[in-house]
Amino acid sequence: FLRMSDLDLRGKRVLIREDLNVPIEDGRITSTQRLDASLPTIRAARDAGARVMVLSHLGRPKEGQFDEASSLAPVAAWLGDKLGKPVRLVRDYLDGVDVAEGEVVVLENCRMNVGEGKDDEALSKKYAALCDVFVMDAFGTAHRAQASTHGVIRFAKIAAAGPLLAAELDALGKALEHPAKPLLAIVAGSKVSTKLTLLENLIGKVDQLIVGGGIANTFIAAAGHGVGNSLYEPDLIDAAKRVIADAKRRGAEVPLPVDVVVAPEFSAQATPTVKAVDQVKDGEMILDIGPETAKRYAALIAKAGTVVWNGPVGVFEFDAFGMGTETLARAIAASPAFSIAGGGDTLAAVDKYGIEKDVSYISTGGGAFLEFLEGKELPAVTALQARAKG
Ligand code: 3PG
Repeated sequence: FLRMSDLDLRGKRVLIREDLNVPIEDGRITSTQRLDASLPTIRAARDAGARVMVLSHLGRPKEGQFDEASSLAPVAAWLGDKLGKPVRLVRDYLDGVDVAEGEVVVLENCRMNVGEGKDDEALSKKYAALCDVFVMDAFGTAHRAQASTHGVIRFAKIAAAGPLLAAELDALGKALEHPAKPLLAIVAGSKVSTKLTLLENLIGKVDQLIVGGGIANTFIAAAGHGVGNSLYEPDLIDAAKRVIADAKRRGAEVPLPVDVVVAPEFSAQATPTVKAVDQVKDGEMILDIGPETAKRYAALIAKAGTVVWNGPVGVFEFDAFGMGTETLARAIAASPAFSIAGGGDTLAAVDKYGIEKDVSYISTGGGAFLEFLEGKELPAVTALQARAKG
């Protein structure tokens, strides 16, 4: 597909779809990761002399009405600060916006527009009419077929991928489509059910699959061990067995924990006890992997060519149950492997252990990152490819 960097943007009206859907508490932005990642794109367009309109959603407001709580006002203020010049927030823009050359404006939350969620054609055409060039840069929303991420690409005079979207796709391609081997994936989270497609897709690509969290508990149960009071899904034991059998058939390993950290309750104050994986008693909850398991996993990470990380392997929010996640995070940081991390909880762990600089690529995608790992097409990317084919 066409890339923004291929285009001369001077004097052009450039509409850039970013994913500026950041967490905001009491009007304050609590994580700027997505803003930091989008800033170079916005700067590049501005410095090229474009008339820049930035479009994004924030949260999930109702269409057809203004909702103060979902306003992009804090985002516009943040951008103004970084760009060294106030950034206007434009509320009514569907019939056109006046923007000077080298100016940046933010258009109010696109999910307040009627038809956004349904990928409405009339709204898509309105977005397209705002600009000479539409730049899709919102990797985090590339899995949504909505008017601002998909429909507009069909109708814009020119539609191109922005540098952030391109970088995300390049990094994911490097990790999954032509990885340096061995390829190791860490997939953790509370439920097998929400990540089954992902596990099934990855098992055909990886050399090692490490599972963690509630997912690991279901795998431990599938291996015939008791999991006490742990979070797990009895209905998915067969699915876990199939993943393990499939892995074996394809020559991939799924190394299950040999020891775990248990506690009598889910609490920051609960006393952690290390147990062999086959010694978990009724009433006990598995809240982390044990030290021997952490050591073995870290050794695999040290030897990997590529590491894909999605999900903490324990309840790392509680320090008493953070050893496993911290050990793996430090192993990823120290490993020469090409590493990619994505997903909200994963980024919180990256942040907690201060390893941002040591991970090769940190994705801005939550749902989009997962759908890519599931092997699904991202509608925004498909639309860009279709435009490139003419
Ligand atoms: C995200 O936070 O994953 C994206 O911004 C998409 O948001 P959505 O799930 O509300 O579409």
